[in-house]
Amino acid sequence: MARILITSAIPYINGIKHLGNLVGSQLPADLYARYMRARGHEVMFICATDEHGTPAELAAARAGMPVGDYCAQMHEVQANLAAGFRLSFDHFGRSSSGRNRKLTQHLARRLGENGFIEERAEKQVFSVADNRFLPDRYIEGTCPNCGYDKARGDQCENCTKQLDPTDLINPRSAISGSTELEVRETKHLHLKQKSLKGELADWIDSKTDWPILTTSIAKKWLNDGEGLQDRGITRDLAWGVPVQFEGAPWSGMEGKVFYVWFDAPIEYIAATAEWADDCEEPDSAWERWWRTDKGADDVRYVQFMGKDNVPFHTLSFPATIMGSREPWKLVDYIKSFNYLNYDGGQFSTSQGRGVFMDQALSILPADYWRWWLLSHAPESADSEFTWENFQISVNKDLADVLGNFVSRITKFCRSKYGEEVPAGGQTGERAAALIEELEARVRVYEGHMEAMEIRKAATELRAIWVAGNEYLQAAAPWTVVKEDPARAAAMVRLGLNLIRLYAILSEPFIPDAAAKMLHAMKTDDRAWPGPVAEALKALKPGHAFETPEVLFAKITDEDREAWQKKFSGTRG
Ligand code: MF3
Ligand code: ZN
Repeated sequence: MARILITSAIPYINGIKHLGNLVGSQLPADLYARYMRARGHEVMFICATDEHGTPAELAAARAGMPVGDYCAQMHEVQANLAAGFRLSFDHFGRSSSGRNRKLTQHLARRLGENGFIEERAEKQVFSVADNRFLPDRYIEGTCPNCGYDKARGDQCENCTKQLDPTDLINPRSAISGSTELEVRETKHLHLKQKSLKGELADWIDSKTDWPILTTSIAKKWLNDGEGLQDRGITRDLAWGVPVQFEGAPWSGMEGKVFYVWFDAPIEYIAATAEWADDCEEPDSAWERWWRTDKGADDVRYVQFMGKDNVPFHTLSFPATIMGSREPWKLVDYIKSFNYLNYDGGQFSTSQGRGVFMDQALSILPADYWRWWLLSHAPESADSEFTWENFQISVNKDLADVLGNFVSRITKFCRSKYGEEVPAGGQTGERAAALIEELEARVRVYEGHMEAMEIRKAATELRAIWVAGNEYLQAAAPWTVVKEDPARAAAMVRLGLNLIRLYAILSEPFIPDAAAKMLHAMKTDDRAWPGPVAEALKALKPGHAFETPEVLFAKITDEDREAWQKKFSGTRG
């Protein structure tokens, strides 16, 4: 049994996430966590809300609420939606927690003591109209790298380049739109990432098994052009982790907070401490996941995120960890994602374009979305959500193949043998061939799940369902029963056992349907299958079951058209 630490990029607090956000981090992380638990490993699956910085302040201002209240409320909303999508976090924390404040200040102090922090008088953009400095998202303009005209002061969404507000061309205030901007001097702390460049480069070079998407972005920002830059890690904002604290190795930093991207990844660790606090466990309970001097040496740490997050996780956060010169666990594997597009355009939070998590759950249960999103995860390239494609996948894979299989076999059994696993008889060559095929496919499926090849895993799972369906179709127990009821009984017994097997294999993708299938089979035996031939003997003759309700309703053309229309505009 291994120990696996899994973190999903923590979603910004400012509003409900869309399906593109979901499939780019939290959902695949959940798939992996569920799979690893099913394989008997010890899993710690952590997520949180990212509550500091300009996005939170701007959203709270728009909502007319104090930022603390706004964050508390939105955290609840996001936690409920996560539960609705069956995201199985061990803890869903908050980056504004006391744990994170303490740990962020601690790491900053260590960085300072180790000479990795420098105070610099910095030129910052000041808005005369707004009478304030405009850090990060308070400022918008044209990206100097790619020319995108809605780049923000901290990063260009289009080309992922990390920016400083003064880099923007034609800058304007995101608060008032004013272009009456001045550059004024103010003192800030800088993280001397450049002096960690060698260490970072060696570390990234050692990660030969990382996906190309991850390493290419990391190496690009490490080596391209001017390469890795020292970065300001403080801001003139009220909301955040205070920079001036007791024991701080600097002074005169009152009224400033740490940059949100400095404290957010630290929340991965802090959220695990929050988890321990909630369970009334001692510090050692979370430290064994994070401190290599306290047992985390044999933890495998995997992070999930969208591609825009990669620079922060391959460079900035590791620089924080390395520069602390403390034995914190570094990430072992980063699974990153491209973007999911929506119906011919982009999903957009700011424009309210696409389908958002609350809207999705209001029209269909989580499993329908989980299946489509995961089986179309934007792994090797961007992918696109269309209502037609969604309808086809759900109707074919879930309703026609899996749902139909479960329904046919249970109903047939009920009508001929009653609601228990029938005894007697032998299955023939066709069943032997099926088992052989499944044996091979299940092992391939495991390999893909292990490797986080999500689309390939979904394809294999679908093939596993199809194989059972085709077997049933060809074996036709409803015909065989007329001449050879014993043989038909053996076929049905195999079919009922396949339902249990399918439930176990499918659980990471569609946990609710899997639970219904196991419930219908009246079994708690969720043991991951060893040899398939053995696994298909778990439900013995005489074992009672219950014919389940329809597992998946088909999406009608009328539904599809209505939803397409409803979600064609932007959210009010
Ligand atoms: N909130 C960021 C986003 O949605 C992700 C932060 S991930 C962390 O893009 F590492 F900083 F925590
Ligand atoms: Zn750009």
